[in-house]
Amino acid sequence: MARIIAGIGSSHVPAIGAAIDNGKTEEPYWKRVFSGFEKSQAWMRETKPDVAIIVYNDHASAFSVDMIPTFALGCAAEFPPADEGWGPRPVPVVQGYPALASHIAQSVILDEFDLTICNKMEVDHGMTVPMNLLFGNIDKNSHWPCPVIPLAVNVVMYPPPTGHRCFMLGRAIRKAVASYPEDLKVVIFGTGGLSHQISGPRAGLINSKWDKAFLDNLSKDPQKLVKIPHVDYMREAGAEGIEMVMWLIMRGALDEKVDEVYRFYTVPASNTAVGHIILANRARGAKAPPRKHKPAAAKHKRAAARAKVQQVRS
Ligand SMILES: [Fe+2]
Repeated sequence: MARIIAGIGSSHVPAIGAAIDNGKTEEPYWKRVFSGFEKSQAWMRETKPDVAIIVYNDHASAFSVDMIPTFALGCAAEFPPADEGWGPRPVPVVQGYPALASHIAQSVILDEFDLTICNKMEVDHGMTVPMNLLFGNIDKNSHWPCPVIPLAVNVVMYPPPTGHRCFMLGRAIRKAVASYPEDLKVVIFGTGGLSHQISGPRAGLINSKWDKAFLDNLSKDPQKLVKIPHVDYMREAGAEGIEMVMWLIMRGALDEKVDEVYRFYTVPASNTAVGHIILANRARGAKAPPRKHKPAAAKHKRAAARAKVQQVRS
């Protein structure tokens, strides 16, 4: 059976893609960002997923204000990089996984999540930048290390889906993957954010306190996050901070309890807070990691206190 083994949260700042494409990754400004993903790339090489589901948002590349699906699942065999105004990014064409994507579509739609099916779709930086951050810089004539199922979410035009709806869609995706008969290791990405606002009087807004609390709760208490209304994202994390609801699809697709494998946070990249987290489901049958032993001194103190109580009682 297929199973989701881990979730990855990652910002998808377009300037990160431009830094890669223009050979600027070693410049001090950008090295600060890219060095935060070195451990993640090593983790990904070791994990070797068979397929990745990538939740992202389209930035008027495949869709436009004329037509914006709330949730759109890519069921095509391949997804070429979109021309975002300066030519397509020099990255390989993304290979899809139509059999699993169609299975997810069927399972999720029968679970009453009305996805749009995309049998032809170009993908923009929202998807290819996190792929670079986790898979590395890959020559456009080469290939990405695993096939990808894109899931595009409308977070660019009001009304976007609620965090709760996103979380529940993640749950439905988890169920869909678990009922797929092929033995596959699946990872799921939530992308976008963290706090940022790119226009208006509050352009440049970054709220690190909010971002860090979001990452903490994503790891330990996601139910706190599903209750956050849109207006709180807007007020606290900026107009584009609403992208963070996409991370809740990723989290909903994981087990209730997860192990935080890695986290990275830096500000800014362009005008955005860069957040990244890797959350792993525990292997089947595995127990939670052992709790840290209390220091011996504390143990002795408690034993002495108990003895004292006994003395008083006797
Ligand atoms: Fe975005």
